[in-house]
Amino acid sequence: MILGIWDGHDAGAAIIKGNKILVAINEERITRRKLHAGFPVNSIKACLDYLKIKSSDIQEIAVSTSDFAKTFTRYFPFSKENYYKFRRRMTEKPAFVHLRRNLKYKLTEINSSSLTKFLTKEWFRKQLKKIGFKDINLYLVGHHQAHIASATFCSGMKKMLTITIDGIGDGLSGTVNVFENGKFERISNISGKDSLGIFFEQVTNLLGMRELEDEGKVMALSDFAYPIDEKKNKMLDFFKVSGMNIKAKYSVSKQGSLLSKMLWNTQREQFAYMAQYTIEKKMLELFKNSINATGIKNVCWSGGVASNIKANMKIRLESGLKNWFVFPHMGDGGLALGAAMQINFELNNISSYDFDNIYFGTDYKEDDIEKELKKYKMPYSIQDNIPKEVGDIISSGEIVLWFQDRMEYGPRALGNRSIITLASKKELKDKLNIMVKKRDWFQPFCPTILKEDARKFIGDANGFDKFMTMAYTTMEEARSRIEAVMNVDNSIRPQILGNENKKYRGIIEQVKESTGDGIILNTSFNIHGYPIVMTPEDAIKSFKIAKAKYLAVGNFLVKQG
Ligand SMILES: [Fe+2]
Repeated sequence: MILGIWDGHDAGAAIIKGNKILVAINEERITRRKLHAGFPVNSIKACLDYLKIKSSDIQEIAVSTSDFAKTFTRYFPFSKENYYKFRRRMTEKPAFVHLRRNLKYKLTEINSSSLTKFLTKEWFRKQLKKIGFKDINLYLVGHHQAHIASATFCSGMKKMLTITIDGIGDGLSGTVNVFENGKFERISNISGKDSLGIFFEQVTNLLGMRELEDEGKVMALSDFAYPIDEKKNKMLDFFKVSGMNIKAKYSVSKQGSLLSKMLWNTQREQFAYMAQYTIEKKMLELFKNSINATGIKNVCWSGGVASNIKANMKIRLESGLKNWFVFPHMGDGGLALGAAMQINFELNNISSYDFDNIYFGTDYKEDDIEKELKKYKMPYSIQDNIPKEVGDIISSGEIVLWFQDRMEYGPRALGNRSIITLASKKELKDKLNIMVKKRDWFQPFCPTILKEDARKFIGDANGFDKFMTMAYTTMEEARSRIEAVMNVDNSIRPQILGNENKKYRGIIEQVKESTGDGIILNTSFNIHGYPIVMTPEDAIKSFKIAKAKYLAVGNFLVKQG
């Protein structure tokens, strides 16, 4: 068994054995602090508890990232806490905010050294000792190598191009790699000073949103802009893609001040559009050049910028790739698993995992669920066929909060911690955004589609994706039936469901009986700004805040109001 740990932004733990992912959990789900950063003591314990093992049962431990900034925050955790509050705008606007931000970016650009590596390992040994780990072998994996490992080894492909793009980690913001005959070859390193991720982070922040969290909102907002001619989009000049590398024209601080000046007389939607267009164009160039240079058309990718589903779509359609895979926990939250996989590869030569689903979290017994329902005095009935019952409720136009089995790993709810309703009714979209989820009006919702029905809705189907990592264009004739899950540009970001989740499939099959279409709206079970629910208790609390009507948890159906 190998334990992987990540202690930065969206910290977490994962345990793997052979070619199986046994359990993987992010700290935010337990502490209820969105994208929690810090040593993930709770997730490590939750992983051990789930497997009913003790810390002494694990000897091999993989950790990731030892650049200067990360090492510094390990020894001075108050800096991490301050940044967390600052980033989430939980404090008054501090003095010298630009100066502070620029200093932070400067510090993150400093790469790891033998000293920071040594200090990182020492720090981890100390933390692990405190929670009972003894006689361990501790391995340090490079930040991007952990991203690379997760995408490569879960892709199901044998020979491939693996590309990472993110903000910054261990001095880099991207890499291009070939994996062939069981070996990696790194063919390009993109410096952290030339980061597309940090560029988009700055745009997010300037738009008054939370960096490292709301980048998807910027992408969504860009859909509401009118197109701007390339010649008028000054952001395109910020980066030059040459071959398999990217170079930034300005330093991060200069880039920030230019963006700020631009925003002064640019509408928010237009500003978002220009940034989104820049990301799409530059990523496409990088992918195209890499495919042309290597001749490899199997491509997988990971890193925070891989969460940009519109850029992913452009790459899928225009880069010349043949087969593709985007690692679903693409941001730093997936590094614990990636680090463990890299060490499993180095120690045991394992380079492929069963990756049919991403339900790697905790689950709860019916008895425990019932105890919670009683504790909160929830009115419930026990159902002998909960998928069918929920399918009927949804078909009547209601919204259901759905909680079953093991929690998903990663940013998307894929049918075990989901809020679900009909995909056809546009008015449900506003009701969900404003009343239930309490988020911005322009944020779109996504569907889950039964695999056999996917071609009814999707026009450009080269490779279907189970994990909501990709945008697709919809078929014109189907659009009026999927108004609640379609973006304003007529695209969707679906979960295509096979047989990996029988209960969830049961709901959609039931909906199909009455509507004729195997599709529903699926959004994550959380209140906006909070993590996805983990326990039945979290589910009940969120259900109360959302003032929703139906909660299905295990075989229990709760109806309120
Ligand atoms: Fe990263």
